[in-house]
Amino acid sequence: MQLGTGFWGSKTLLSAIELGVFTELAKGPLGAAALTKRLQLHPRSARDFFDALVALGMLKRTGQRYADTAETTLFLDRAKPSYVGGILEMCNARLYRFWGSLTEGLRTGNPQNEVKTGEDFFGTLYADPQRLEGFLKAMTGLSVGFAKIIAKKFPWRKYRTFVDVGCAQGGVAVEIALTHKHLTGGGMDLPVVQPVFEAYAQARGVAQRLRFHPGDFFKVLLPKSDVIIMGHILHDWNLDEKIMLLRKAYEALAPGGALIVHEVLIDDARKENAFGLLMSLNMLIETHGGFDFTGADCRKWMKEVGFKRTQVTRLAGPDGMVVGFK
Ligand SMILES: C[S@@+](CC[C@H](N)C(=O)[O-])C[C@H]1O[C@@H](n2cnc3c(N)ncnc32)[C@H](O)[C@@H]1O
Repeated sequence: MQLGTGFWGSKTLLSAIELGVFTELAKGPLGAAALTKRLQLHPRSARDFFDALVALGMLKRTGQRYADTAETTLFLDRAKPSYVGGILEMCNARLYRFWGSLTEGLRTGNPQNEVKTGEDFFGTLYADPQRLEGFLKAMTGLSVGFAKIIAKKFPWRKYRTFVDVGCAQGGVAVEIALTHKHLTGGGMDLPVVQPVFEAYAQARGVAQRLRFHPGDFFKVLLPKSDVIIMGHILHDWNLDEKIMLLRKAYEALAPGGALIVHEVLIDDARKENAFGLLMSLNMLIETHGGFDFTGADCRKWMKEVGFKRTQVTRLAGPDGMVVGFK
């Protein structure tokens, strides 16, 4: 029952983020009437909405006043750099609706989002500037926490240059550059992403060391570098395209260089990492041929394109990285 009605709680949280509940309460606790007014809600269900968020562990109520929890003030206050709500804003604005036709996707094998009628996913998504920025920011929300772990768990001291291929806003590249001052590098992505990447690198103070390489990674060579990162890239594409991208990364790497593939890795037995398996269903909803994979799958593909040594490292929660050494 809990799983079957899970979307009730999910949508309650997503609406709270959309309405800015956590951002407002981060400024200080409020009573129900004041919060209702601040958020411009109808009084009928406001109290139920706030108390549901309390019962779901997303708000605290002391006496008559509501406040953020330690976690929601850190991660869901839009005004803080630690905000990870971008991905949840996208879940609310796009995926929530599209997952409504999962059954149709399972029957037809076709995506159920804006490209249901057959066009290219990123081209269609990015045609609207607001959606472009929303998606690129969402990627930072998804990846920045893991980037902090990649910055710690990979032996960056041995390398001097890196490129994040399919870098989106630059969340991962910026985090790594902030932690390792000796590194220079950048991000590669479709040309339309350039101003969003450059503004973010500038705002985080690393624009001097991070350059944007505009290009379609299926059409041009990848920039040469000691380390290449591909985060949540391979899962967007079918098997032939995955292998093509791995081969291009191998060719662009310096001898002794390394490719870091960072994804929600499905466990090798395909029984436990529910989030990884659901992410793969999300690729059905979003793409024409994409799917998620296990660490063992990725190591096998890396070996096929020439990588000598490969290793899988768990990051946090359902995420992991597979590193291939040239
Ligand atoms: C799922 S996002 C991953 C973003 C980021 N690496 C992360 O992990 O947060 C995929 C990225 O690939 C980029 N991309 C898609 N098709 C591309 C192409 N043909 N050439 C270059 N980049 C592309 C998208 O613009 C997007 O930024």
